[in-house]
Amino acid sequence: MKAITVEPKKPGTVRYEEIPEPDAREGSILVEAIAASVCGTDIEIAEGKYGWAPPGKTRLVLGHESLGRVIDPGPNNSFKKGDLVSGLVRRPDPVPCPNCAVGESDMCRNGRYTERGIKEIHGFMSERWRIEPEFAVKIDPALGILGVLLEPTTVIAKALEQVLAVGQRSFWEPKTVLVTGAGPIGLLAAAVARLPGLEVHVLDRVESGPKPELVRALGATYHTGSVLDIGFEPDVIVECTGVGSVIADSIRQVAAGGVVCLTGVGAGGTAPRATADMAAAAVLKNNVIVGSVNANKRHWYKANERLGRLDRTWLSRLITRYEKPENFKQALERKPDDIKVVIQFGEV
Ligand code: BGC
Repeated sequence: MKAITVEPKKPGTVRYEEIPEPDAREGSILVEAIAASVCGTDIEIAEGKYGWAPPGKTRLVLGHESLGRVIDPGPNNSFKKGDLVSGLVRRPDPVPCPNCAVGESDMCRNGRYTERGIKEIHGFMSERWRIEPEFAVKIDPALGILGVLLEPTTVIAKALEQVLAVGQRSFWEPKTVLVTGAGPIGLLAAAVARLPGLEVHVLDRVESGPKPELVRALGATYHTGSVLDIGFEPDVIVECTGVGSVIADSIRQVAAGGVVCLTGVGAGGTAPRATADMAAAAVLKNNVIVGSVNANKRHWYKANERLGRLDRTWLSRLITRYEKPENFKQALERKPDDIKVVIQFGEV
């Protein structure tokens, strides 16, 4: 079968190539790929900045945002041939640490977890893949190709759960949410935060293109410019840019008692504000700054439920480009009007 593979930490090594059929040890359910979407992590791996091949191998099959159709459910009877499924990304560490032991590998304490398509286990950008029944999630067939958006939605389901959990340390009824960054994660965060009727604002750099309209279609408010100029103090800020100055401004702008949830993975930059000044702002307003990565099965369940409630026409507008696997180079390139790029392996 063919797969999109890469030699991690070596830029320019992505190939669409023939590899052996998926190893039975990767799971008893055999799936034919329908689609895999591309996220910033995939691009970073392709650029040689991140990623680990399986032990003893030099190449890794890319892809962690999956949608496929069961061809052989194996001995497990909770899945049947034809079911649409997506696969959880992270697997517990072998020790396991206390969190991995209780099914919270998203909160792994020792860093020895593995991740499909990212860290030491093959991903889903192959014509066929295998998955363990306990790490497969059924997708409502009515969602069709939009089911590929489940994984990024799980990241949001976890982030918002974290925000509410830490917010409960005191009496707190959040009403306003600012999302920084109108990429797929930011837009999905805005859409999910709108479901319970929260007042949602989204800030991004771009002034035209599909993003402002997508935000307005949610009944949310679109902003450009600085977080410091949005004109109110949000109870919650979901930071999806990973940009130092946006993070620093978010900590300064969040309301007293509010929570800043960091989901973006950035790097470098210059210190836009002295750390002690930022800390003082957080201390004097009782703020929590919480980092959130990955998602466990509970978040996959929640995300599946939330995704099912979002407007399908709106969701379909998040996918701005479909590419064939052989066009992996274009798929892994950032283009100005891209929101979500989907690599399509087959029809739904
Ligand atoms: C994935 C997460 C993963 C993280 C770090 C993200 O792109 O969505 O599942 O934990 O990268 O590797």
